[in-house]
Amino acid sequence: MSNKPPINPNKVVVFSGAGISAESGLNTFRDANGLWENYPVELVATSKGWQQDPGLVLDFYNKLRQQSNHAQPNQAHYAIADLEKTFDVVVITQNIDDLHERAGSSVVIHLHGELNKARSSLDNDLIYNIEEKPIHLGQKCELNSQLRPHVVWFGETPLHMEKARKHFLDAAYVLVVGTSLVVEPAAGLLKKARYKAQKIIVTLDIDKIPYGYKLLRGRASSLVPAVCEQWRRG
Ligand code: APR
Repeated sequence: MSNKPPINPNKVVVFSGAGISAESGLNTFRDANGLWENYPVELVATSKGWQQDPGLVLDFYNKLRQQSNHAQPNQAHYAIADLEKTFDVVVITQNIDDLHERAGSSVVIHLHGELNKARSSLDNDLIYNIEEKPIHLGQKCELNSQLRPHVVWFGETPLHMEKARKHFLDAAYVLVVGTSLVVEPAAGLLKKARYKAQKIIVTLDIDKIPYGYKLLRGRASSLVPAVCEQWRRG
């Protein structure tokens, strides 16, 4: 007997990756000239790199934070925010920018953290809002340990996974946007979507289309508004 909840006909889950912010001018990770082509992941996005050279890591995220706060949401972010006029929408994002929030989405779950927050390097639960301010070496938390970006590095556990998994279970609509689906366990969430749910993935390149998902290959800023419009019209 499956202990799955009934599908909520009014619920939409959006699962987004760096590709939704590409047209806002923010680099993705794995496209040509992507972040991981220009920065060695192990030095700027692992706890080992943080131990080795925390200053390099802080500089990397200070630059990303500046770029992210200068970027504006695009039509894909706004169309997803507008879905809330018709549906209960939960945005589950791998992105650390706040473009979904700035476009007006009211429920956004960040699996990989948030650029505009810092956290204690001693206690993961000590999280501070820093908005667009940089984090410098020597800036300490209340436990007197160095502040670090509130970002999930490779080898660390993503945030809110259980909550995210539950949202997939009762969604009638699942819209996946701008992700290469190469990073687990985030990508594995897509398998939790229900057989009867309408499941669409909007992206430019993808190695393997997840089972049961319809692929719309193209730019998020043009395809996402079209999908949202179609769903809102019913
Ligand atoms: N419109 C739609 N899709 C796009 C666009 C666009 N304008 N531009 C790029 N894409 C697609 C690419 O085709 C690719 O499939 O977005 C995806 C970006 O993939 P990645 O760069 O791997 O980004 P993402 O999937 O979010 O990475 C997941 O990896 O490094 C970690 O923590 C980091 O959250 C990140 C995770």
